[in-house]
Amino acid sequence: MKTTLSVIKADVGSIGGHIKPSARLKETIEQHVREHGKKLLTDLYVSSTGDDVALLMAHQRGVNDSKIHELAWDAFMAGTKVARAQGLYGAGQDLLKDAFSGNVRGLGPASCEMEFEERPNEPFLFFAADKTDPGAYNLPLYLAFADPMHCAGLLLSPKMAKGFTYTIMDVNHTEGDRIIELNAPEEMYDIACLLRDNERFVVESIRSRANNDVAAVVSTSRLHNIAGTYTGKDDPVALVRTQGNFPATGEVLSPYRIGHYVAGTMRGSHHGPLMPVKLNSTISFFDGPAVVSCAAFCVHEGKFTEAVDAFDHPFWDWVRNNVSQKAAEIRNQGFSGPAMLPYTELEYGGVVEKMGQLDHRFTVRKEGVGNGRKKKAA
Ligand code: F6R
Ligand code: MG
Ligand code: MG
Repeated sequence: MKTTLSVIKADVGSIGGHIKPSARLKETIEQHVREHGKKLLTDLYVSSTGDDVALLMAHQRGVNDSKIHELAWDAFMAGTKVARAQGLYGAGQDLLKDAFSGNVRGLGPASCEMEFEERPNEPFLFFAADKTDPGAYNLPLYLAFADPMHCAGLLLSPKMAKGFTYTIMDVNHTEGDRIIELNAPEEMYDIACLLRDNERFVVESIRSRANNDVAAVVSTSRLHNIAGTYTGKDDPVALVRTQGNFPATGEVLSPYRIGHYVAGTMRGSHHGPLMPVKLNSTISFFDGPAVVSCAAFCVHEGKFTEAVDAFDHPFWDWVRNNVSQKAAEIRNQGFSGPAMLPYTELEYGGVVEKMGQLDHRFTVRKEGVGNGRKKKAA
């Protein structure tokens, strides 16, 4: 049986700043989808990560289905009404356009979808991150699918020996989807060369080279590129199928032990470590740390099992302590150097405006003197 998994998520308002949606907001969104999606969906799971609400939907309508996207859009619109009525902060924040037009892509909400022939047992992971952007998944997906230091299956399982194909998107190209396909292991260095630049090149999907089956998909939208100004961080979602021809669940989770530095946290304008957190977690220190949650499921004939919280284990408490340490370390240097994002990535215009104001006050010293040192006589 062919099943489609669609994740569509948006921040349409939260309590106490950009922290967590209200229970009523979440209930409203869920009720809307349950009521209007009866004939469309085979199952639904609603969750929040930081200030974002995500709809994980199972159905048989394929990816980019306008009815599924419209259902999610309308649910977030209904949620926005409640957010306004409750006086939640940032009501409707991620709904950047007034009207729905066929697909949520380019309208604000983030989405990722995959369609596949269900295996007799079909385990998969649903990741949701807050206060960061889609490039946050670059390193974990590189390590989980291409590096035997994390994915022992690349050495031990003949099913995985052929490796994986990465589809990588240039998210700076806003006129259309500019993508490249690269094969691991032969083109590992090329993949690394692109994925080192988290703000520009983003993993869109990964396929098994054994049978071309889809293994992973990531939301690639960048609000910064859609709106041209600060409207919140992209807060990306991802789906990863596991086991069999794919990395084991533990291999996909392994790279999150690192707490690698990503863009985001306060005002979407800093670097901070990515902390793996429990489901429905909130946001705190310095509007961060940037967080990622992971719900593990099996799907069978379009129905989900209950969700298992993949980061709810004593091991991840130890990781969270280490990541807190890393978060504090980089905060010690405030705005300086790599602590804050480069000029082009700042989500607020303050620094750019200031540079404009200061520009005319710069002077160039008279000839003969440069950088405070006298020019040598010719
Ligand atoms: C980061 C984020 C927050 C806000 C910050 C200021 O993605 O959402 O860090 O940028 O709390 O929010 P505003 O500008 O809404 O007052
Ligand atoms: Mg927000
Ligand atoms: Mg958010």
